[in-house]
Amino acid sequence: MLRKNKLLKTVKTYSLTAAIALSVGGAMLPNAVSADSGMDDLKKVLQSQIAMMRPELQSKVKDLSTDTKMAVMAILAMHSRLSDEATLRQVMLEVLADYQTMSMGIMTDSAEMTADAARRLANHRIPVGGLLPYLGLENINDGKLAVLGSFNDSVEGNALKLAEAAEKGNMSEAAGLLGQISSGCVGCHAVFREYPGTSDLMK
Ligand code: HEC
Repeated sequence: MLRKNKLLKTVKTYSLTAAIALSVGGAMLPNAVSADSGMDDLKKVLQSQIAMMRPELQSKVKDLSTDTKMAVMAILAMHSRLSDEATLRQVMLEVLADYQTMSMGIMTDSAEMTADAARRLANHRIPVGGLLPYLGLENINDGKLAVLGSFNDSVEGNALKLAEAAEKGNMSEAAGLLGQISSGCVGCHAVFREYPGTSDLMK
């Protein structure tokens, strides 16, 4: 079983680009990676996610370009909390709770409440099987997935900036970043999410 704290160490230790370049060469997950055990752990995570996918998704993933695979791996490498049970929907609701806690912290001028929630949001859980199984088979192609990295940057990147702003006592900067984060949420939903909660029992 993979040690999650070890993966966190991996993510901290390796430059992202190096880690990704090693993980996503020509084959789906090539064996030619660093001898370091942390790198091997990251590779094991990816292999186990792919092993969980149905063959039709596996073959779509296999067809992705190296750039796209790198972008997907970059997102994975930035998160150390890998769930073996949570669905993306559950993760999203936790993310929303953290978002709300961030805004509560800003409104009550609490640097620690704001910064903790922002960092938790930036390092949200990765759902079981990774993100791809929840995005819909029709979205697993280079064209659609090209935008994934920029949504991740605008959410996670700005959440980390927001944590720093709050810790510096700059709540107006933090408040401004809240808007940029929510644009990232909304943008990603527009591409990858259906209208939530519809019923097929209505005409
Ligand atoms: C990588 C793209 C992406 C980003 C970024 C993203 N979401 Fe989501 N979100 C999704 C997808 C896909 C779903 C649909 C998941 C499903 O139903 O399986 C979803 C669903 C949701 C839901 C509905 C859950 C339900 O019950 O159907 C909420 C709430 C939500 N997201 C909140 C957020 C918030 C808040 C942010 C930003 C802080 C955010 N999301 C950022 C992709 C994203």
